[in-house]
Amino acid sequence: MKRMFVTVAAVLLGIGAVYAQQDVVNQRQTSMKENGKNIGGVLGAMAKGEKPYDQAAVDAAVAKLAENAKTMGTLFPENTKGLKADGKYSASPKIWENRADFDSHIASYTKAVNEVAAAGIKNLDALKAAVPALGKQCSGCHETYRLKEG
Ligand code: HEC
Repeated sequence: MKRMFVTVAAVLLGIGAVYAQQDVVNQRQTSMKENGKNIGGVLGAMAKGEKPYDQAAVDAAVAKLAENAKTMGTLFPENTKGLKADGKYSASPKIWENRADFDSHIASYTKAVNEVAAAGIKNLDALKAAVPALGKQCSGCHETYRLKEG
């Protein structure tokens, strides 16, 4: 009886670990979706003139990007290799095969975001310069490390 209890507990612990890993996958997708919304829906839309320039919204979007950049490195632990959520994308196994290169993409992106955040975007011209500079960093990582599903 005691042994059975131990086995059941071990299985439950194992299931708990899988949930935790799935949670990390969900967290990184949420974080990435926020990045997409901030750069595309907010900053990019203003840069293209689809939305009027709004300083408070610009500042909030940049702050959110910088905040999300801080945790990006923690959202790709090795034990999430091969795990997917319902998103249109998934993380390529290459992340864990070339971890140093992946981390250098995170570092380069984080540096770019922090520079923009430190300087602040103060007008439309600065916004028009910042959006493609940041966008290049996003796609520079995605082209190697993000897979499209389906
Ligand atoms: C260091 C690499 C890296 C950087 C930098 C990066 N991403 Fe990602 N992104 C990924 C990976 C890997 C995935 C797939 C994650 C998954 O599905 O588990 C992803 C997924 C996404 C998704 C899809 C989310 C979903 O599930 O629908 C969006 C949108 C996105 N990123 C936007 C951005 C934007 C915008 C930036 C820049 C502001 C950015 N990313 C910067 C690696 C990166």
